[in-house]
Amino acid sequence: MIYEIKKYGEAVLREVAQEVENIDNEILEILDNMVETMHEAKGVGLAAPQVGISKRMFVCDQGDGVVRKVINPIITPMTDKLMDFEEGCLSVPGIYKKVQRPEKIKIDYLNEKGEKVSEEVEGFLAIIMQHEFDHLDAVLFVDKISPMAKRMINKKLQMLKKETLKENKYGVNDDRK
Ligand code: NI
Repeated sequence: MIYEIKKYGEAVLREVAQEVENIDNEILEILDNMVETMHEAKGVGLAAPQVGISKRMFVCDQGDGVVRKVINPIITPMTDKLMDFEEGCLSVPGIYKKVQRPEKIKIDYLNEKGEKVSEEVEGFLAIIMQHEFDHLDAVLFVDKISPMAKRMINKKLQMLKKETLKENKYGVNDDRK
């Protein structure tokens, strides 16, 4: 099943997501649907809040066919070295801006079988995982761009939010600085 992707202005994107307590059939089905939705949207990652489910999990596939289903992740930076990468987000369509993030991280999580996984990842995959992880803490990449870049996209963001609110009376007027 393909989910509708929640857009900028939607309240759920600004809620801190809840830990997954039981990896039951419902969770597994949601994760499968999230993978399907991500692939259909040609995205490289998708977090549960982006489909209106406020749970700490995301899926990603950097394009090498390896799909990760990540539950209750914890991220630890492994370097002070920051990497500049032009990011976008399925929830913030049409906007791409540079964000700085640590280029190497350790990520601990549960996979869909409930197994503990610990991975050290760098480069593109590290960027994706940090971006998706941020969604679980209600943070969007546009919160992390430079003040000048923010000024440049402010109008676009306001328009996006307006559209979202028009479509959905449950959206909220919230653009975190
Ligand atoms: Ni995103």
